[in-house]
Amino acid sequence: MSDFDSVPLEFFQDYPEPGVNFIDVGCIFDTPEYWRLAIDTLHARTEEMHFDFILSMDARGFMIAGALAYEHKVGFAMARKAGKLPGKAISIDYQREYGKATIEIQPERIKGQRVLIVDDVLATGGTIEAAASLLRQLGKEVVGAAALFDIAFFRDKRVLTMPVVTLRDV
Ligand code: PRP
Ligand code: MG
Repeated sequence: MSDFDSVPLEFFQDYPEPGVNFIDVGCIFDTPEYWRLAIDTLHARTEEMHFDFILSMDARGFMIAGALAYEHKVGFAMARKAGKLPGKAISIDYQREYGKATIEIQPERIKGQRVLIVDDVLATGGTIEAAASLLRQLGKEVVGAAALFDIAFFRDKRVLTMPVVTLRDV
């Protein structure tokens, strides 16, 4: 058990739709001790993953990925929802916990070969697998994915194509 396990969490039942118990990751960002604990723990848990770049997921993954990339002294790129990136972008449609979504990346922004995908929450795995698919289209190696929270309900239902580090089951 890490200290991160003792951080109090906030959930919203039936948001954004009935049946979803939504973890509000803002309850980590608004308290400096929790924020530091989250990043320091994730930093330690990803130290041996041998990546040279991070892909961060729009939107709640950005704060985690940015801080983690800074700590690891690697660059990072933003995978964004449709229509937010200038210039050449490649996109993929995918299914996530609640409905369909589309993400895009700019090939020229992926300035590494061995990439770690970083997000806040892992549910179905649809989001990180979509990101992995885009990276592989570019010939990149997806060394793994990292997230703060793992929604345990989905664990037996998902098939992931990369090693995943998560800090806490919810
Ligand atoms: C949520 C969450 C993860 C993803 C997890 O993002 O932040 O990115 O869903 O679900 P999955 O494992 O089933 O793909 P969302 O698309 O709601 O957008 P947001 O980060 O902008 O809030
Ligand atoms: Mg997200």
